This record gives sequence, C-alpha cells and structure tokens, in this order.
Amino acid sequence: MYLLKKHYKKEELVDIKALIFDLDGVIVDTAKYHYLAWKRLADEIGFFFSVEDNERLKGVSRVRSLEILLEIGGIQLSEEEKTKLADKKNAWYVDYILKMTPDEILPGVISFLEQARQKGLKTAIGSASKNAKTILDRIDLLKYFDEIIDGNKVSKAKPDPEVFLLAASSLRVKPSECIVFEDAEAGVDAALNGNMHVIGIGSEKNLGKADLVISGFQNVLLETFLKLGH
Ligand code: BG6
Ligand code: MG
Repeated sequence: MYLLKKHYKKEELVDIKALIFDLDGVIVDTAKYHYLAWKRLADEIGFFFSVEDNERLKGVSRVRSLEILLEIGGIQLSEEEKTKLADKKNAWYVDYILKMTPDEILPGVISFLEQARQKGLKTAIGSASKNAKTILDRIDLLKYFDEIIDGNKVSKAKPDPEVFLLAASSLRVKPSECIVFEDAEAGVDAALNGNMHVIGIGSEKNLGKADLVISGFQNVLLETFLKLGH
C-alpha cells in the first residue's frame, strides 16, 4: 500500500506498513476534561483560566502544561510545589477519565481502525499522556493497537520525534513506512522531525505543515491516503 501525498511524484510513493495515532484530540476529546481539571486548579490558586488558554496545552506534556498555566496566572513556585499541583490536577483528571465510555470515541474512528486491521496494517498509539492506557481501557479500544507508546515510555516531549520513533521501532517498521495522525502542531512537527508521513486532524490553519489535513475520521476511507500497490 502506498501513501498518496498531494505533492508526491509517482516514483516517490512509499510503501506504508503502519499507522500511528495520537490519542487526545484524535481518538477522543479529552481536552475538555484536561480543561476542567486545570480550571479547578487555577480557581483554587485564584486566577482566571479560559477555554482559549486551554488551547495552548494541547499536545503539551503535563509538566509543561502546568508551567504554562502558572505563567498565565503570573505565579512562581518551587519544583516541589509544582509536583504537588501536577499530582492534584492529575487526580481530578483521572476522576473524569474513569467515567469515560465507548460513546466518547470520536466519529469514524472505529471504522477507520477496522479498515486498518482488514488491510493488515500495524497500528500504535503515540501519545504524550501518562493516562493513555486508562483511557483506551475505558473506551474499550486497546484491542485495536499493536503497541501503546505513551508518556511513561518517553522522556522527550513533542515536537521531539521520540514517541513516534519508538512506536515505529516497536512495530518493526521504518519511520518512512508510517503515517502519523495528529491534532496538535507540536505533534505534526514531531512526525516530520521523525521523517514520517503525517495527516493533520483539525484545520489547515495550524496544521498546514502536514501532508494532508482532514477534519476527522467520519466517512473517511483508508484509500483516501493509501493507494493500493501496483
Ligand atoms: C497530551 C494532551 O496528549 O497529553 C495534553 O494533548 C496533556 O493536553 C498531555 O497535557 C499529558 O497528559 P497526561 O494525561 O499525562 O497528564
Ligand atoms: Mg493530541
């Protein structure tokens, strides 16, 4: 199977063997739960944290998210205090995600994953979240992925390609044989930095560097990106 990149010449078509999915914002919309938990923390400290501010935390690690939140509030804290706050926010966040159900899987995702299975492509999650397995378990999607590479397995945050490169090596495929699906600009950059193909989930406005951008998986056929080999 070959990726049909909009600017590819026929002789440059690459054999695609694996699909790597970011989790938050691609498979499920957990940004709303991150927002509620960060907002609760900001309220408790005593400053306003808006939905627009929350956009800055998408794709960003937990520690970096807290730093951005504290910057917004104009607050400076010791490393020890920061760890306590990050743990507190995570406990509230975990309360939300433990209540998640398969109904929260974004439209078209299951059908897309089934198409990948039918075509024999390998699949992995490549997420910054340390809660990825909990979420996948709650929404009953673990069975669709051959590898779960999450924030517990990597130390460098996107746009560093570490998470996607580890996913590719775990699946025993080359980076150039993978397509990454990402909703965050840092994630698109991470995939490109890893020499992978990348499809943006969202809008051209912030994901324009991706090979293709789609609004979501609803009614999307795998053939939209893959051309059967000849
Ligand atoms: C990313 C989210 O997937 O995971 C970020 O887009 C989040 O918003 C990050 O901060 C870390 O998640 P967690 O679950 O480890 O706090
Ligand atoms: Mg994301």
